[in-house]
Amino acid sequence: MNPRRRALLLLTAFGLLLSGILLTSCMGPDWSGSASGSGELTLYLTGTTDGNLEPCNCPGQPRGGLSRRSTLLNTLRQASGRGVLLDAGDVTPIVSDPIIDSYMVRSYGLLGYDAIVPGDQEFDRGLSFLASMQQPGGLPLVACDVTAGGRPVAPPWRRIERQGWSVLVVGLLGPQTMMLSEPDIRAQLEVIDPAKAVAAALADAAQADRAAGRRAPDLIVLLAHMDPQEREPVLSTIHGVDLALISTEMSRPGQVEQIGGVPTVYAPPAGRQIAAITLKRRRDGRPQVVDVQLHPVEQTLPRERKLWELYQAYTFDERQRTLTLVDKVGKIDLVESERCAACHRTQYDWWLKHPHGHAWQTIVREQRTGDPNCMRCHTTGFGFKTGFVSIERTPGLQNVGCQDCHQIDLTTHVAAKPPKNVPRVDPSLCLGCHTIANSPDFDPDVYLPKATCPPGAPTTQPAYHR
Ligand code: HEC
Ligand code: HEC
Ligand code: HEC
Ligand code: HEC
Repeated sequence: MNPRRRALLLLTAFGLLLSGILLTSCMGPDWSGSASGSGELTLYLTGTTDGNLEPCNCPGQPRGGLSRRSTLLNTLRQASGRGVLLDAGDVTPIVSDPIIDSYMVRSYGLLGYDAIVPGDQEFDRGLSFLASMQQPGGLPLVACDVTAGGRPVAPPWRRIERQGWSVLVVGLLGPQTMMLSEPDIRAQLEVIDPAKAVAAALADAAQADRAAGRRAPDLIVLLAHMDPQEREPVLSTIHGVDLALISTEMSRPGQVEQIGGVPTVYAPPAGRQIAAITLKRRRDGRPQVVDVQLHPVEQTLPRERKLWELYQAYTFDERQRTLTLVDKVGKIDLVESERCAACHRTQYDWWLKHPHGHAWQTIVREQRTGDPNCMRCHTTGFGFKTGFVSIERTPGLQNVGCQDCHQIDLTTHVAAKPPKNVPRVDPSLCLGCHTIANSPDFDPDVYLPKATCPPGAPTTQPAYHR
């Protein structure tokens, strides 16, 4: 191809890319940024999102959320330029969930990632899921050392041109990490020696550069999903990369460490933060990390509209599924707590003022009344045949009701003469809702007394007592 035509094509491609960017971002953000003129480049790194689309704001550490991640990214980009957006894997939850998985892929598409190394959690879904992630318009996966039937499961490397920088991203999965994936899936995969795979990827990229008449990259990044114990041994065998960005290390995000001789930065855990890694060129032209910042995805950030709308669509699908597929029949028929008030006025009035008695009000306040992810714990028996469906269809079953703790069937209870052998509340029931993630301070010695109904004889006796 003659150089002039190539230049023209490049210009058109650039124009298309630019209009694509302007069209896809609803805020039409200005990512020119002050730093982009200064020759600096920022890499934005996330990881271990684990299928967490939106946090619940229950106590416990905030887990970010994708609509706020998008807002934060737009803000950071306004200050430092568009940069390169990377993810170190485990986008989807530990346990495969087709609805969440598909919404994670669509949400990551809206966020506009430049490269993502699939984690073992993505591999666990199988090869067809990896293929579906990469369908046209899908996600830019990158992995150089895993093949299936001799064919790579994703492109080994990706080239990203941004702010005058040419960045080569090589994806790598730690061989030990791959041992964690499901045995039947692992059996379909070949994991190549990391040093050889990276060397081959670099040679392949250099070959492509020569063929295209492109200059060598300014920055070579290894984007790796790896277990802690294999990082040192693997990285010490790898040559020719400027920077390694590695999946979550709980205790050490946000700093540059030399691991096996490679400057390394870990992705922040649980999608709670975005790591912003700023590079500039040294006098000899080589890239150098000048700053690493962790930006928390605060719950006070406004939600970005498109991602929040996508989440609404997800909650609709999720609710349909729960209500149509999981019509679980519980041990007991659930009734409105008010039905118990007919005889247990003292306890009912006390309960009304307890957080359990207005747990739904919290969901109203949070504007999440359509969200099935809240209903499981802030209502009585969502997902069970006789449990909460919606305020309209099952009024009185919102809130954490009497039967969430007292597992008694009303019909049997009032038929007994007089009700006897009423089972004591099983404290292990609390843990179904008071999980580590949602109630990190839960301690039965403290919480149980605070949730125990006050004594008081029944105000009304069943008919047979009179
Ligand atoms: C028609 C009246 C009536 C209704 C309605 C009723 N109960 Fe009772 N309940 C009683 C009576 C009577 C007793 C026996 C009290 C006693 O032995 O002192 C009792 C006992 C209990 C006890 C054991 C109390 C103790 O001292 O150990 C619990 C707990 C209880 N009921 C919960 C409930 C719940 C929850 C509901 C609603 C699902 C409910 N009851 C509905 C009349 C009723
Ligand atoms: C069906 C789910 C569910 C079960 C079961 C449950 N809780 Fe709760 N609990 C909640 C929710 C939701 C809240 C927060 C309500 C709100 O403020 O919106 C809460 C709040 C509380 C609070 C108030 C905490 C505070 O900060 O004031 C206490 C105490 C408590 N629960 C104790 C218990 C104990 C003890 C048990 C077991 C006997 C139990 N809960 C069982 C869902 C549950
Ligand atoms: C696995 C159970 C569970 C789920 C699911 C859950 N919550 Fe909670 N939530 C709790 C418990 C338990 C508490 C009380 C924790 C405590 O005080 O220790 C709580 C407390 C809260 C609080 C703090 C109480 C207050 O008055 O401010 C908010 C806000 C909240 N939840 C919102 C939500 C929203 C929104 C959702 C859905 C996206 C949700 N929760 C889903 C269990 C759950
Ligand atoms: C968070 C769990 C929880 C919820 C919700 C709850 N209770 Fe209780 N309740 C307890 C515990 C714990 C006790 C102490 C007895 C036991 O351990 O079984 C108790 C005791 C009682 C007693 C016996 C009181 C006595 O005389 O000592 C009654 C009656 C009762 N509850 C009725 C109700 C009714 C009615 C509701 C709903 C309006 C309700 N409870 C909601 C946990 C709960």
